[in-house]
This record gives sequence, C-alpha cells and structure tokens, in this order.
Amino acid sequence: MADYDFDVIVIGAGPGGYVAAIRAAQLGLKVACVESRATLGGTCLNVGCIPSKAMLHASEYFDAAANGAMAKMGVEVTPKLNLEAMHGQRRDAVKQLTGGIEMLFRKNKVTWLKGHAKFTGEHTVEVEGESHSAREIVIATGSSVTPLPGVEIDNDKGVVVDSTGALDLPAVPKTMVVIGGGVIGLELGSVWRRLGAEVTVVEFLDQLLPGMDADVRKEAGKIFKKQGMTLKLSTKVTGVEVKGKSARVTVEPAAGGESEVLEADCVLVSIGRRPNTEGLNLEAIGLETNQRGQIEVDGQFRTKVKGVRAIGDVVPGPMLAHKAEDEGIAVAEWIAGQIGIVNHNLIPGVVYTMPEFAGVGLTEEAAKERGAIKVGKFPMLANSRAKTNHEPDGFVKVIADAETDEVLGVWCIASVAGTMIAQATQAMEFGALSEDIAYTCHAHPTHSEAIKEAAMAVRGKPIHM
Ligand code: FAD
Ligand code: NAI
Repeated sequence: MADYDFDVIVIGAGPGGYVAAIRAAQLGLKVACVESRATLGGTCLNVGCIPSKAMLHASEYFDAAANGAMAKMGVEVTPKLNLEAMHGQRRDAVKQLTGGIEMLFRKNKVTWLKGHAKFTGEHTVEVEGESHSAREIVIATGSSVTPLPGVEIDNDKGVVVDSTGALDLPAVPKTMVVIGGGVIGLELGSVWRRLGAEVTVVEFLDQLLPGMDADVRKEAGKIFKKQGMTLKLSTKVTGVEVKGKSARVTVEPAAGGESEVLEADCVLVSIGRRPNTEGLNLEAIGLETNQRGQIEVDGQFRTKVKGVRAIGDVVPGPMLAHKAEDEGIAVAEWIAGQIGIVNHNLIPGVVYTMPEFAGVGLTEEAAKERGAIKVGKFPMLANSRAKTNHEPDGFVKVIADAETDEVLGVWCIASVAGTMIAQATQAMEFGALSEDIAYTCHAHPTHSEAIKEAAMAVRGKPIHM
C-alpha cells in the first residue's frame, strides 16, 4: 500500500469537516484538517448559526421589553439599546465556541493545516506551497452567499450587505430592505426589526419560506406582518443603486408590471447560498460538479474519484449544520471501515424567529402526492403553557398515512418549535404511528403537549379543543 502522510485529510473545518476530522481521529485514524479561516468552525460558528442566534436571543429580550410583552407580565422597563455590548456578547460566543473546536482538535490529535487547500492529485493537496497526502480526502468546503447579478455587496460600508455584514451593523438602520424571504432574511430581518428598523421583505415567490409546509408558510406571512414587517411577495428586485449612505431598490411584480422604488439605509441580500468548489482545482482530479455546482456523492459520500469523498453544504441536500455534522460522523465511519448512516428523509429544519417555525418529514402537499393521508392540527392558543406564557401564535400539524397511521411529517409553529421538533424526529426515526405519539405521556404543562394533541387529532379528537 502506498505510504501517505495521513489516513484522512479533511478540507474545511465547518460542522461537516471538523466533526468528520474528530470522529475519524476517535476511530484511530491519523487526521489532518485544512482550514483557511483564522478560526475553526466554518460558516456555522463564525458567521452563521451561532452569531445569528446570539443576535436573535439578545434582540428578543430588547423586543420583549420594548413592545410591552414584559409589561404584560408585570415587568415594566424602558429598554435602552447598547448595540456595542450586544455585538460584544455575540463575538464572545463565537470566540468561545471556535476556540473550543481548536481545543478538541488538540485533544483528539487532529492536525490543523492552516491555509487554502487545492488538489494536485487524487491523494494529494497543496496548502501554502506544501504538499500533503492521504489515503482518503474529504471535501467539506461548505457554501457562500449567492450574489444577486448587478448588485455589489460591501459589508464594510454597511449599505448593501450579506448575512455576514448584517450580523455586524454598527448602528440600527432606520429602514432595511431584505431581498429574499427565506431563512436568513427572516431571522436577520427580525433582529433589526426588533431593534427598531422598519423592515421590508421582498420575496420573488408568493409565500415566505420555500420548502416548508404551505400552511406554515401562509401563517408565517401573517405572523411577520403582525410583527410589523412589510412583505412584498411575488415581487422581484430589478436594481439596487447606492447613493452615499443609503440605497434605492427598484422592485416590480414578479409577473411584470409597474416598478416601484424603495429607499433603504441598509439592503440585505439573502437569496440563497451556493457550494464552495472554486479554487479547489477539481480539474486536477477530473471531478466535475452538477448543474447546481454541487459535488455528487453516493450513500458512502464517495465522489466519482476514488479516495475522494464530500459532505455538507457542498453536496446535494439541505444546507444545514446538523445535516453536515451527521454526514461528518458517517463519512468518518465509512472511512474507518464501519457503516455510517444518515437518514436524509428526516432532517429537521428550524427558523429561529419568535415564534420558531420547524418541520420534519413531508409537507402536507408532498404527502398527498404519495397517497391518502390524515392530518391532525392543534393550535398553540389551546396549549396551556403557551397561553400562560402569552405566546398565542402557531400550531402543530401531524401528517400520517391514512391506512397505516405512520407519521409522515410534523410541522410546528411555537416559541420553542425548534426543541419540540426533536421529539417528532425521534418518533419518526423509530417509525412511530400517530397513535404512538398520542398515547405517549407528555409532561404538563409543556408546549410539547401540543404535539400529543395534534397526534390525537389525526384519528379522533384532542381533549383541549
Ligand atoms: P461551512 O460551515 O461553510 O465550512 C466550510 C469551511 O471550509 C469554511 O470555514 C471555509 O473557510 C473552509 N474552506 C472552504 N474552501 C477551503 C479550501 N479550499 N481550503 C481550506 N478551507 C476551505 N444551519 C443550521 O442548521 N442552523 C442554523 O441556525 C443556521 N444558521 C445560519 C445562519 C447564517 C447567517 C448562515 C449563513 C448559515 C446558517 N446555517 C444554519 C447554515 C450552516 O451554517 C451551514 O449549513 C453549515 O455551516 C455547513 O457546514 P459545512 O461544514 O458544510 O460548511
Ligand atoms: P433561502 O433559500 O432560505 O431563501 C432565499 C429566498 O430568496 C427564497 O425564498 C427565494 O425565493 C428568494 N429569492 C431568490 N432570488 C430572489 C430574488 N431575485 N428576489 C427576491 N427573492 C428572491 O436562502 P437564505 O435565506 O439565503 O439561506 C441560505 C441557506 O442558509 C438556506 O439554505 C438555509 O438552509 C441556511 N440557513 C439556515 C438557517 C437555519 O437553519 N435556521 C438560518 C440561516 C440560513
């Protein structure tokens, strides 16, 4: 067998790559991970999941104080925003978590090769002019912002920004236009709306949050409107012109028609993300990407090139950190000669606004296409804990096969929907029937009881409605 420097080289230290590297090392392999950023953790820890949640959590406190939600509970305060301190606690969270990965690398003896990796052969990459070889190479290079043609992003200037810029605005914009009513637009739009910005979301499609259940998408529109966002659905942006410290955004109906100009101090471009493959020199190993720029893999994450695998945002599937992490574990297990499993049919998705929007499995529309279904729905308004907490918005929806009663999809809108969806995912992973959920004892008073009641509604009647 050829003599390699490492058993495995992982390119990219995001939730896919760093998890793959650690798991491979835990399984006794000699591992290196190449990362060009100054800190480990990838998009997720540096400019994605973690900093966005830090800003969402903090701005939620401000909003609850400012909008009367706290006063409703007898806590009367007049909040004063210290944006620098809010950014400070975000930076602290990022620093601690990225530093934590560095510590885990040392603990598990994963070598961090600092710099940009490019292929020079099927088993070799070049990093900062040095060549490194491995029996297996895992591409986990993630994704970056999809640009809007003709619109230049300048995060330093802070007028037209992407998600990275929108996490770090030095002041609350008076007006903000969000291009794209998907996950990033709604999460980061919510942050600045809560802190005082007038936010307008321009979405090409006729509803927000593509990919989610139609009922959930419709309800999302109502909820964000009620919270004070202006929604321009079925609308496209035809141009953005920056004039000093503000911008003029020209929009028109998606189907064509009269245009309108929106003035904004800040424009957030959040129309999706695309896989990072440029600069990897894939040509050197004859590896091509598909039409969407993704690297195609089989069930063991093997690409068409022997010895080269790929995981995370760079391969097809939802661009989510937990999906990348699970693929990271599985790919390491395959490389170590074990069986690595990821159930791609049951990857939960969560939008971390207030309330949260979460789902797993099939939408009602997709389930109907598959065959006859029964649907049980339960409103959060009738859930004692949500009602007590003054959180009336939302519902739980359980979709089950009409004949077998197998649960096919669960959708939740609730303050803690992201936590609730874990139980649904686990139940579905074990092949639960709606009856199984309905007859499982749920602690009272919890938001999770709404899942039980929605499951009861599939075949009969819930108690509290
Ligand atoms: P990444 O995290 O993108 O990591 C890839 C790493 O590879 C990067 O650090 C990059 O520098 C490095 N790299 C790339 N090319 C090379 C090279 N040639 N050489 C060396 N290094 C290289 N997902 C969730 O599940 N929950 C959330 O709440 C959530 N919030 C998000 C919020 C925002 C604002 C954004 C932008 C994304 C969010 N995501 C969230 C998505 C999540 O961040 C990604 O799905 C996840 O980070 C993908 O992991 P990955 O390991 O595939 O790639
Ligand atoms: P997205 O795909 O969620 O939403 C993009 C939206 O922009 C879509 O609704 C699309 O119809 C719309 N759009 C596209 N082109 C447009 C145009 N020209 N004009 C108006 N609207 C347009 O992408 P987003 O929000 O950028 O997020 C990227 C990825 O990051 C997502 O795939 C998501 O998985 C991940 N992410 C996950 C989070 C989470 O799990 N909570 C949080 C943030 C990001």
